Amino acid sequence: MQSKRVVVLTGAGISAESGIRTFRDNDGLWEEHRIEDVATPEGWRENPQLVWNFYQARRRQMLEVEPNPAHFALAEFENALQYFTLITQNVDDLHERAGSSKVLHMHGNLKTLRCEQSGRSELRMSDEDLRPQFVKCTCCAEPSTLRPDIVWFGETPIHMREIYTALEECEVFIVIGSSGHVYPASGMVNIAKMIGARTILVNLEEPLNAYDFDEIHYGKAGELLPKLVQGWLNES
Ligand code: APR
Repeated sequence: MQSKRVVVLTGAGISAESGIRTFRDNDGLWEEHRIEDVATPEGWRENPQLVWNFYQARRRQMLEVEPNPAHFALAEFENALQYFTLITQNVDDLHERAGSSKVLHMHGNLKTLRCEQSGRSELRMSDEDLRPQFVKCTCCAEPSTLRPDIVWFGETPIHMREIYTALEECEVFIVIGSSGHVYPASGMVNIAKMIGARTILVNLEEPLNAYDFDEIHYGKAGELLPKLVQGWLNES
C-alpha cells in the first residue's frame, strides 16, 4: 500500500479507548445530555451556560486523557506513506499528540474558541479559559463572547474543499470508529467507492453504512489497528 494515495476518516470510536465517550451510547444521551441541547446553535442560544459548561468539561477532560495505540498506529502509517490524508470528526487533539502532522478536523476543535463577532478562532487552554465563566475574544475592539469552536448540527463542516480533493484522488479509503450516522462524513465512503478506491472499515459494531465497505474488521481500534497498519505496509 506504500505507494497508494490513502485517506483515513476517524470518528469517536478511535478515542473511546483513551476514555472519551462516544456519542451514540445505548441510552441515546451524550454524557447525560440530549445531543440537541448541547450540540446545536439553537441549544447555544437557548441555554448558553449549559452548553458552555458542557464543552468546558470536555476541554478539561482532554488534558487528562492520552492517545491510545490506534492514534499512534495512524501516525506511523502517515510517516511511512507518501500520500496520506487524515480526516477526523473528533474535536480532541489525540491524533496530534500521537504524532500525526496534519489533521483535518471537520467538526472543529476543543482547544480553540471562536469569536461570535469575527468568526476567528483562538487557542484558549489556560486555566482561566477553562473556568465556568464565559471568556472574551482578543480580536475585536469591543471584546465579544467566544463560543466553543465546534461544528454543531445544522452548521457546515470545515476543510471540505481539501477533504473532497483528497477523496476524489484516493486509492484506499479507511474509516475507523464511526457509526455512519452523520452526513457528510457517512457519505465519503460512497465517493471513494465511486472512483474505484478500496474501502476498509475498522469498528467495534456494525455501522449504518457497513454495506459500502469492501473489507470490514470488527473489534477495538486500539487492539486491531497496530497489526492492520503493519499488514497494510507490508502489502505490495
Ligand atoms: N474501536 C473502534 N470502534 C469503536 C470503539 C473502539 N474501541 N468504541 C466504539 N466504537 C464504535 C462504535 O461501535 C460506533 O459505531 O465507534 C462508533 C462511534 O459512533 P458515534 O458515537 O456515532 O461517533 P461518530 O460516528 O464519530 O459521530 C459523528 O456525530 O455527534 C456528532 O459531531 C459529532 O463528530 C460526531 C459525529
